[in-house]
Amino acid sequence: MAKRIVILGSTGSIGENALAVVRHLADRFRVTGLAAGQRVARLAEQAREFGCDWVFTPHAERRDELAGALPAGCRSLADAEELLAAVTAADVDMVLCAIVGTSGLAPVLAAIRAGKDIALASKEILVMAGEIVMAEARRHGVRILPVDSEHCAIFQCLDGQPPPDRIIITASGGPFRDQPELDLATVTPEMALAHPTWNMGAKISIDSATLMNKGLEVIEARWLFGLAPDQIEAVVHPQSIIHSMVEFADGSILAQMGYPNMQLPIQYCLTYPERMPSPVKRMDFAQLHTLTFVPPDPARFPALRLAHEALRAGGVQPCAFNAANEVAVARFLDRRLAFSGIWRVVEDVLAATVPGHPETLDEILLADRQARALAAQVADRLAR
Ligand SMILES: NC(=O)c1ccc[n+]([C@@H]2O[C@H](COP(=O)([O-])OP(=O)(O)OC[C@H]3O[C@@H](n4cnc5c(N)ncnc54)[C@H](OP(=O)(O)O)[C@@H]3O)[C@@H](O)[C@H]2O)c1
Repeated sequence: MAKRIVILGSTGSIGENALAVVRHLADRFRVTGLAAGQRVARLAEQAREFGCDWVFTPHAERRDELAGALPAGCRSLADAEELLAAVTAADVDMVLCAIVGTSGLAPVLAAIRAGKDIALASKEILVMAGEIVMAEARRHGVRILPVDSEHCAIFQCLDGQPPPDRIIITASGGPFRDQPELDLATVTPEMALAHPTWNMGAKISIDSATLMNKGLEVIEARWLFGLAPDQIEAVVHPQSIIHSMVEFADGSILAQMGYPNMQLPIQYCLTYPERMPSPVKRMDFAQLHTLTFVPPDPARFPALRLAHEALRAGGVQPCAFNAANEVAVARFLDRRLAFSGIWRVVEDVLAATVPGHPETLDEILLADRQARALAAQVADRLAR
């Protein structure tokens, strides 16, 4: 029987790649519902192509336009409550969450509590609420399958293995890794959006340029794999061929490789535990001349240091790290904050955050709101 899936964030880079995987393995999947944000015309087209039962946009003012473009038999959900009911319905086997930021947290938690497996691209959710999400997943016996290529690589390397001694997350290094002379305060959104290896949404492209993406991934890995902060390292690997590595007690290191293409980890999550044929380009070792590795530069790119500090402090700090970064990235994209101001906002918010250990979703949402308010104040102070 076809696996029935819901895709949250279907009009984005990951969402479109997930639908490409479904197109390729059409007899394996049925897409029951889709959610997206502003791109409602594209959402309606997707619903038509994949014969979905429902679609959702959180933007109430766009729902008439969406409803008018939908094919017969597909309905537009009226509000967030209806979305929660739709993702927890009996006709859903798996939810793929690729909404940028943390808006997917409530539907993901609801789906976990209803016993649905989750393919998770939205790393911000685990950074904000990893402890709760993973505890709920264990309680309800559901799998959290990591779509992030690095975590998918680690997940594959760990399959059937004992716990590792350490994991090594690879980083492309972003567009400015080879420009030591560049004054990072002068970087514009256009410069930062031009990623050397991956074609991604705006927010994650900026996160890659600041290396905040690696910081978020270090925290994400802590929750996904249950490791201590000092077991998680990052190394810059500009070719983005090795997606991450795992070292075991005997010193053996396993790595997962492939040309950079998000359809590979997405398909792995959607078909897990099976491996299915895929059209992705095969590795040509005659063409692959060098694989290089260099340590990240903490002086120019303090993101990894900040992430490790937040992780070691624990409690509310990772949530504040994520919230401050989201606010700072939005300000940078609006040209109201310098590129180098992104780290500054995060650092100042972490320093000013009152220690605490949020245990419920409401407490986490409160901590998130407080950190965003603090970040807005810091960003106002640093505004150009
Ligand atoms: N792109 C990658 O290669 C990659 C790799 C690893 C992990 N990730 C993670 O995957 C997530 C998505 O990244 P992306 O690059 O695909 O981002 P993206 O291209 O910006 O797409 C984001 C998607 O989220 C939708 N969206 C935004 N707010 C929403 C809301 N409140 N409710 C429902 N949908 C909403 C957008 O809809 P509209 O566009 O219609 O507004 C769009 O479909 C991020 O957390 C990122 O860190 C991405």
